[in-house]
This record gives sequence, C-alpha cells and structure tokens, in this order.
Amino acid sequence: MPCQHCCGANQQFDTKSAKKDLKHYLKRGPRKPTKRLTEAFKKLNTYNLSLLDIGGGVGPIPLELIPQGLSKVTDVDASEAYIEVAKAEAQNRGYQDKINYHLGDFIEVHTAIEAHDIVTLDKVICCYPYVEDLLKASLPKAKTYYALVYPQDNFLVRLVVWGLNLTLKIRGNPFRTFIHDQKVIDRLIANAGFTEIYSGTTFLSWQIHLYKKG
Ligand SMILES: C[S@@+](CC[C@H](N)C(=O)[O-])C[C@H]1O[C@@H](n2cnc3c(N)ncnc32)[C@H](O)[C@@H]1O
Repeated sequence: MPCQHCCGANQQFDTKSAKKDLKHYLKRGPRKPTKRLTEAFKKLNTYNLSLLDIGGGVGPIPLELIPQGLSKVTDVDASEAYIEVAKAEAQNRGYQDKINYHLGDFIEVHTAIEAHDIVTLDKVICCYPYVEDLLKASLPKAKTYYALVYPQDNFLVRLVVWGLNLTLKIRGNPFRTFIHDQKVIDRLIANAGFTEIYSGTTFLSWQIHLYKKG
C-alpha cells in the first residue's frame, strides 16, 4: 500500500477511536451491519471453521463467532491501535490462543497469510483506494465463505463521504473513504467462483453480502 494511505489509516484508526469502538461494542453489541452479517453466519454451521478477518477493528466478528466454535482466527489490520485494543479484549475473554494478529496493509502482507474457510471485510473496502487489488488478494484466501460490508451508493452516502473526506483534508490526514463501483466488485467475486447466499442493507447506509464458493 502506498504509505500515504497506511499512515492515514493509523492516524484515523487511533487508540481513542479503538477504545470508543470497543466501549460501544461492550455496551450495545455489534453495529447493525456487523450484526446482520454475524447473524447470517450463525444460521450456517461455522463449527471448526477458520476465519480471516481483514481490517477486523476491535474484533466484533470473532468475538461473536468464536462462541459458535470457530477453530482459529487471523486478524490483519493496518492500525496498530486497533490491534492492541482487540488483543486486550480477546485476552479478557480467554481467546488469546484462538486469534493471530498481523499488523499491516493486507495488500502488503497477504502472501504470508494462508487460506481460511471464511474471509470477512467488514467496512474495510471503503477505507481503501484500490478495491480491485484488495479483492484480488483476499478472494483466493477464502476456501468456503467470503463476506463484504460496504456503503450503499446513494446521494446521502455520497454526501457523507464527501464531508468526511473534506474534514480529513482540512486536518491534513491523507486517509480517505471511497464508494467503489458495485459492478466491479460483483464481477471479481463471480469470477472467483462465489455465489451470493445472503444480502441485506441497513437504512440508507450499508450493504451486507455473504458468498459461498461454488
Ligand atoms: C471502519 S474500520 C472497521 C473495523 C471492523 N471491521 C468493524 O466493522 O468494526 C476499518 C478497519 O480496517 C482497517 N484497514 C483499512 N484498510 C486496511 C488494509 N488495507 N489492510 C488491513 N486493514 C485495513 C483499519 O485499520 C480499521 O481497523
């Protein structure tokens, strides 16, 4: 990844924001789109499956699905602060032996990451400029299930993204958020041999997609 994005992600996803996210999770559970996704997984049999959570943040997906019997989890995140906070919470719950953490841009570290049964990118592709690269690097890592949560493309979301990017620019943070072309995303996922088995939306904001190989 160009360091510009990397440094920006570290600035954007700092300790203060990681602690705030964890506090929200502990008080109210996963945010709506994550809840939809974990509920969809809970309807499947995830017992003994491995999870690669790319940009896992403070870890709501593993924290929800480890009790369902996941065999192991790998979290790759570009933010050091988020990894530290996620690690501490996993340790509090006695999950330290279940989760491996890798700090870095997934594009930079993906060759060192093995394939897992499940791959999730929950609100991550919108943080990354090169969606094709991110999908091409992550799709081969999914043996059975692949899941994405990303923004809907509508006027309201475009306005919010524009406002957020303007704020980041004024603050001198090189991090930016993106709305990617859904046709490109759909094509790459279909070409990798995945079929959608669940899709959902939250009011005017996020879309949730779960795919199965074959
Ligand atoms: C909006 S947060 C979402 C966190 C979590 N998935 C959730 O939904 O609560 C985006 C996360 O993705 C990470 N991230 C962004 N781009 C990344 C990349 N290229 N490789 C690895 N992690 C990345 C950020 O550091 C951050 O922790």
